Amino acid sequence: MKLLAINGSPRKTKNTASLLGKIVDGAKSTGAEAELVHLVDLNYMGCTSCFACKLVGGKSYGRCAMKDDLTPVLQKSHEADVLVLGTPFYFMQESSFLLAFQERLWFQYYLYTEKKPPLSPRKKATALVYTMNVKQEDIATYGKDRVVATAKGIMEKLFAPCEVLLSCDTKQFDDYSKYEVDYFDVPEKLRRHEEVFPLELQQAFELGAKLAK
Ligand SMILES: Cc1cc2nc3c(=O)[nH]c(=O)nc-3n(C[C@H](O)[C@H](O)[C@H](O)COP(=O)(O)O)c2cc1C
Repeated sequence: MKLLAINGSPRKTKNTASLLGKIVDGAKSTGAEAELVHLVDLNYMGCTSCFACKLVGGKSYGRCAMKDDLTPVLQKSHEADVLVLGTPFYFMQESSFLLAFQERLWFQYYLYTEKKPPLSPRKKATALVYTMNVKQEDIATYGKDRVVATAKGIMEKLFAPCEVLLSCDTKQFDDYSKYEVDYFDVPEKLRRHEEVFPLELQQAFELGAKLAK
């Protein structure tokens, strides 16, 4: 049993990475192998629309033909029993790190026909982790619910049921006094970080253990 978690935040120790790290810990607590990959460390591009993955009879049919740092990560994603993608919201969507990864991961498997199933390994448990500044009650106002629903729908079409973990009103800065931040209720943000975020970390640990079983 192998769990692979992909961090789409460029920050390797903050909200998204911490939640993914707990998912990895939870999986390991069951005896599973688990790994966290930070996309920021890699040199890669999004899909270049070469269509080698769609060429019937071609040697890359169903697999991304591009060769860069993402190539081994896509291979690990293909082999993993559990795949978890995490990202902060950046301007109402996934970070560009994760968007480029998703293009490469998803498009290789996607077919422009309903007559055949997608070319993905279908028995893969999956989860999506999103972190964001907005509060829970504002998710729909800013259309983030549609973004999450779209990604979840694609993960479920390609793989298997997809769990979603959302962390809202996150602590973005270590010291808010150094920045102009009157959009935010800073004391409430700090309280939430102290009181609610640890509960979300625990949820992430439990999710990792559940997915690995
Ligand atoms: C470039 C950029 C764009 C952002 N856009 C949004 C946004 O559209 N909505 C939102 O709620 N938060 C937004 N944020 C805040 C982050 O999503 C939030 O702080 C997140 O938890 C950061 O994750 P991290 O700590 O893992 O880096 C943005 C942050 C950055 C740096």
